[in-house]
Amino acid sequence: MKKVTISTLLNMKQSQQKITALTAYDASFAKLFDQQGVDVLLVGDSLGMVLKGEDDTLGVTVDELAYHTRSTKAGVERAFLIADMPFMSYASPEQAYQNAALLMQAGANMVKVEGGSWLLETIEGLNQRSVPVCGHLGLTPQSVHVFGGFKVQGREQAQAQALLKQAQELEQAGIQLLVLECVPSDLAEQISSELNIPVIGIGAGVNTDGQILVMHDMFGISANYMPKFSKNYLVETGDIRKAVNAYIQDVQQGDFPTEQHSFN
Ligand code: KIV
Repeated sequence: MKKVTISTLLNMKQSQQKITALTAYDASFAKLFDQQGVDVLLVGDSLGMVLKGEDDTLGVTVDELAYHTRSTKAGVERAFLIADMPFMSYASPEQAYQNAALLMQAGANMVKVEGGSWLLETIEGLNQRSVPVCGHLGLTPQSVHVFGGFKVQGREQAQAQALLKQAQELEQAGIQLLVLECVPSDLAEQISSELNIPVIGIGAGVNTDGQILVMHDMFGISANYMPKFSKNYLVETGDIRKAVNAYIQDVQQGDFPTEQHSFN
């Protein structure tokens, strides 16, 4: 079993092979997803909502993320493991370096940060200190109270242009992967084709380089509501392993997401 690295993911983009990704928070699910062949596992700060039952992701701490990253890492052999940096844990470059170190030491292969231009110095500094970084643009859940809710981003021309510009700036600063959340499909397609790095979508249409879902949404068991962009694969298949396989097949064949799970 060959370990997935950032080079594997880049090669997948270049050869137009779709990247499959799921969130994971513990060793058992991580092992199951890993064995089914999911390429990327994200220890997301979504854990605040799906594990702790909170209304948003803002209450998640670095200690919680490190704990779940360590647990998830214990189940992983093949997949590439990303850990989210929680709200305010990268408010300054120095805070980012210290907190990213804790997540990398817990077993992450990369850390993810939410936001655009204000992060450029932090991303460069993390790279210089040997920490690979994944960006996250669009509906960035840590900014939910600035957005006034979990709303699709980039619907207007000016906002779409700004998102494209931010994606390009983040790439130039050194991110090696980008998550695009809840943006119109045509904008996600444009960003994916203009960037050289892989772009993983969630609620961003089918024409990104890969897809990610929160595992609880994919199983239809989230404590909160079921987002429009997600699909309950468990109800379709009746078995956890079959559900993961069906998700992988659908993503690889470009059958998920459909128009029904996308925004225009
Ligand atoms: O925290 C998380 O699970 C995420 C995904 C929604 C991409 O950031």
